[in-house]
Amino acid sequence: MSNSVIIINGPNLNMLGNREPEVYGNETLEDVEKKCLAWAKELGLEIKFRQSNSEGEIVGWIQKSSSSFAVIIINAGAYTHTSIAIHDALKCCGLPVLEVHLSNVFQRESFRHVSYISNLAKGVICGFGSQGYEFALRAAAKLL
Ligand code: DQA
Repeated sequence: MSNSVIIINGPNLNMLGNREPEVYGNETLEDVEKKCLAWAKELGLEIKFRQSNSEGEIVGWIQKSSSSFAVIIINAGAYTHTSIAIHDALKCCGLPVLEVHLSNVFQRESFRHVSYISNLAKGVICGFGSQGYEFALRAAAKLL
């Protein structure tokens, strides 16, 4: 548990590979998961990699996370910009949170400049594509 990290991906990230490749690239979420497993192995971390399109399911995973994980890495997709429920769950769980976005949200529409997660997060990584998950895993390894 002390080296376990949960990586939570939010809505529409299951569509990576097909979804706006000019923004998100050509890799699928499965490709990103495989890369994360390899990075985690190198860093001596255990990971659980999850995706859901449902806000409630994500809240449920966060609520249960403190009993099994030491760090949360989250790309909450569009819920980043809307979800007080995910904000409250992250606040309540007490684990360090690392926020990741594939795209540089600050170069995009102004509604993506607001995050309900950033003020709770240890750090925010955006704009590096799937490599952002590597940076977050390295940050998690440093924290543990
Ligand atoms: C995203 C950015 C969000 O604004 C968007 O809604 C996503 C993906 C990213 O990884 O760049 O679904 O979180």
